[in-house]
Amino acid sequence: EFIDEMMGISHLEESLKKKLGIKKVIIVPGNADEDDTVRKDIGKATCKYITKILKNNYIIGVTGGNTMHEFANCLQGIKKYENILVVPARGGLGKEVEIQSNNIAAVIGKKLGGNYKLLHVPDNITKETLESLILEPEINKTLEYIQNVDVLIFGIGRADDMARRRKMPKSEFDYIMSKGAVGEAFGYYFNRNGEIVHETITIGIKLENFKSIKNTIGIVGGSRKAEAILAISKIKKDLILITDEGAANKIFELI
Ligand code: G3H
Repeated sequence: EFIDEMMGISHLEESLKKKLGIKKVIIVPGNADEDDTVRKDIGKATCKYITKILKNNYIIGVTGGNTMHEFANCLQGIKKYENILVVPARGGLGKEVEIQSNNIAAVIGKKLGGNYKLLHVPDNITKETLESLILEPEINKTLEYIQNVDVLIFGIGRADDMARRRKMPKSEFDYIMSKGAVGEAFGYYFNRNGEIVHETITIGIKLENFKSIKNTIGIVGGSRKAEAILAISKIKKDLILITDEGAANKIFELI
């Protein structure tokens, strides 16, 4: 039965990869919407996968979120690398401390035996303050690292969930919904075609950088996130997606 299930999953991985037209798909059994342990399994699968691609001297970009938190937690007893630097992909996205990209970057940096940099940017900052922040030498240096990440590991959210989590004003929320926002990643909100409908004012990775990163790993589970995954798959054809059966099956229903 176990073998059958594994055969079923590898078939599902292959079909989803073709369907989305992306580089690689890894699927764990179950649906994170119904069972929290599935999100932990996505974290574990990510830990296992990154040992295949990490190299000494790499700069790793990470985002925040619950799935990223699970990934950081399970990075136990992993081989240590030389001169690894972990940076948050984007600063100030209004999340609880534990699941903020800063915290996650620090945890991952330590566990990999490397270094980390933090991006301290207040939420809901004005454009003027932002512009002067960028000129701060330390922040500027961190931004330079962010533009040069070798690997990006990031969470993918539903636009509505993320907008609520970040307490977006109602008028803005209604506006992005009217524009068809379905997905969110590192502060950008996308419609189903992967077009930007809104961008959080903060600093860090820009969509242009994102498109040219060599190793990009999106980690996301639950059938509720199927449309969000579709959106990201449209803009990053060399995406490596680590997800669950719940999301995979839902995507097949949608396309
Ligand atoms: O930016 C996207 C979210 O952080 C991912 O959501 O908390 O369900 O992993 P998550």
